[in-house]
Amino acid sequence: MLRDKRILLIVAGGIAAFKSLQLVRLLRGRGARVRAVLTKSGAEFVTPLSLQALTEDKVYGDLFSLTDESEMGHIQLSRDADLLVVVPATANLLAKMRAGIADDLASTVLLATDKPVMVAPAMNVRMWLHPATVENVAVLRERGVMVTGPTEGDMACGEFGPGRMVEPEEIVAAIERALGEGETAAGPLSGRSALVTSGPTFEAIDPVRYIANRSSGKQGHAIATALARLGATTTLVTGPTRLADPADVRTVHIESAREMLEACTNALPLDIAVCAAAVSDWRVAREAGQKLKKDGNAGPPALELTENPDILATLSAASGTRPGLVVGFAAETETVVEHATAKRLRKGCDWIVANDVSPETGTFGGDENTVHLVTETGAEPWPKMGKDAVAARLAERIAVHFSSNFAA
Ligand code: C5P
Repeated sequence: MLRDKRILLIVAGGIAAFKSLQLVRLLRGRGARVRAVLTKSGAEFVTPLSLQALTEDKVYGDLFSLTDESEMGHIQLSRDADLLVVVPATANLLAKMRAGIADDLASTVLLATDKPVMVAPAMNVRMWLHPATVENVAVLRERGVMVTGPTEGDMACGEFGPGRMVEPEEIVAAIERALGEGETAAGPLSGRSALVTSGPTFEAIDPVRYIANRSSGKQGHAIATALARLGATTTLVTGPTRLADPADVRTVHIESAREMLEACTNALPLDIAVCAAAVSDWRVAREAGQKLKKDGNAGPPALELTENPDILATLSAASGTRPGLVVGFAAETETVVEHATAKRLRKGCDWIVANDVSPETGTFGGDENTVHLVTETGAEPWPKMGKDAVAARLAERIAVHFSSNFAA
C-alpha cells in the first residue's frame, strides 16, 4: 500500500506517455496522492484534462504561468512530494537531468528537488544504446537516481530491442520498494551474481610468521558494496583486513592464495568476477610445522619460494563456467596503461582497472585512486576520485555492460 504517499509524476513526450494514465489509476488505487507535471511534448500524447481527471488535481505545465507559480511555485512542487517519478523518461529529459538544464517546469522541478527521483526510460533502441544516453544514465544512477527499465520488446517505431518502458504495474512495484513499502529496490544488477576478491593474502612461513603485503582491501570491499547496491548477489572473498564485512554481501574470510582460489571456484558459476585482491605472488615452498628457531648454529633460514596460483587467470580460463565479465586490477608504478593493456591479454580477462601505486600517489592504504579502465576498445582515464566513487562507477559500468549486451 502507498497510503498518503505523495508522488509527483512528470510526464514527458513519448508514445509511452499514455501508460502514465494507468499508472495514476494504480497509484491512487493504493492510496497514494498523485500530482502531475506535463511537459509541452508530453501534452502531445496525453491531454492535461485526462491527467487532471485521474489525479483529481490541477496539472502543472508552465514554468512561467502566474497562476501555477502563485498556487504552487516550482520549488514547492519539487519538495512537496515523497518521490518524483518520470514516465516516460525520454533521452532528451535524461540528458537535461544529467547536465542540470532547467528550461521548462519539468526539468526545473527535477533540478530543484531534494527528494528521491525515479525514471522509467522509454525510447527507440538506438537512442537507448547511444553512448550519450548510456553515459547519461550511468551518471544519473551514480547520483542516486533510480532507473526502472527499459525492457526489450517490439517498439512503436517498429524496431525490436531494449527501450520499451516497463509496464505501470512494474513501476508501481518499484515505487513501493523505493518508498520502503516492498522489498529492497530492484537494481540494474538484480538477478546477477558477482564475486569480488579483496585484501592481501597471508602466506605462512611457520605457525606464527607469514609473507603479506600492504593492501588495505578498501577498494575491493567498496566494489562488493557497490555491486550489492545495484542488486547483484555478491560474494566477497577477502584476505585479512581491518575492515568490517560489507552489508548485504556474503563474505568469506581466507588467508592464503590457495584458500582464496578455492573459495572463488566454489562460488562459480557467476556473472561477474572482480579480482581486486593483492594476492601474494609467491609462498614458501615448505611451510614449517613448528616455529622456526633463531637460536642454534644454522643461522637465518633460507626460504625457498614457489609461485601461487593466479586466481584472475584461472577464473578467466574456466572452461564452461567462465564468468560473463571478468575484471582484474593492475597495480603499476610506471607506464601504467601499457602494462595494464598487456596484462589484460596475458590474464585473459575482459577489463583491467589500472592504477598507479607508486608511493607518492598514496593509493595503498589511502582513500583515493586514479585509474584507467582498460577494455578491448582501449584505455579510458578516470579522474582522481575516492575509492568508493571508483567502486560506484565500476559497478555502473558493469550494469551498463549487462544492460546493453543482452547476449552476456
Ligand atoms: O600479475 P599481477 O599481480 O600484477 O595481476 C594483478 C591482478 O591479478 C589483480 O586483479 C589481482 O587480483 C590478480 N591476481 C590474482 N591471483 C594472483 C595474482 C594476481 O587473482 N596470484
